Amino acid sequence: MSEQVIAIDGPAGSGKSSVARALAEALGWSFLDTGAMYRAVTVEAISRCVDLTNERAMGQLAEGLTLATLPRVTVNGRDVQDELRRDDVNEGVSIVAANPLVRAQMVRRQREFAAAQSLGTVVEGRDITTVVFPEATLKVFLTASLEERVRRRSSEGKDSVERRDVADTTREASPLRKADDAFVLDTTGRSVHEAVEEIVQWLKHLTLS
Ligand code: DC
Repeated sequence: MSEQVIAIDGPAGSGKSSVARALAEALGWSFLDTGAMYRAVTVEAISRCVDLTNERAMGQLAEGLTLATLPRVTVNGRDVQDELRRDDVNEGVSIVAANPLVRAQMVRRQREFAAAQSLGTVVEGRDITTVVFPEATLKVFLTASLEERVRRRSSEGKDSVERRDVADTTREASPLRKADDAFVLDTTGRSVHEAVEEIVQWLKHLTLS
C-alpha cells in the first residue's frame, strides 16, 4: 500500500469521530467516517422498507448505492446527514454492520477512497485497524470509561451504548477488537486537542524511525 493511512478504532463514544476529524484537519489529510457509511445504508434501507435482517437484500442495496461522505453524507445524491443518529438508525445499524455482504461493499469503498487521496487519509471505525487497513501507517485504538462515553453520547442513553458495545464486540463479522500493534489512547478526561497532539507525536516517531 503506497498511500498513508492513520486508522482509528474504538467503541461508541471513545472520541473516534472528533479525534479523527481534528487529526485530519491538523495534518491536512482527508477524513473518512466509516460508521456514517453503515448508518447511511441503514437510513436508506429503512426509507425503502427493506428488511434489515435480510442479508441478501441488504447486500444488494449496499452494492448499488452511490455513497458520499464529504462534505455531507449523501445516498444517491440525497443528503441524509441529519438522519444518521435517529433512534431507529441507532437501533438498526448494528444489524446492518453485522452483515458480511454489506461489510464487503463498505470495505471495498473505504479502500478505494484512501487510494484516491493525494496526501493521506484518517479513517475511523470498527475493524479499520484489523480488517480494512491492517497495513496502515499508524493504528490507534481509543478507549474511555463507560460513564464518559455515555456522557458524550448524551442523546443516546446508557442502555443503547451498552447494547451496541455488546453487539459490536460479539458479532461474528469483524467484531470490534484492538489490533495487536495498535497504539492505545485513553481519552477519558482528555480534550480532542490533547488526543490529536499525542497521535501526531506517535506519527512523527514512526515516520522518523
Ligand atoms: O461509529 P458509529 O457509532 O457511527 O458506528 C455505527 C455502527 O456501525 C456501529 O454499530 C458500529 C458499526 N461500524 C462497523 O461495524 N464498522 C465500521 N468500520 C464502522 C462502524
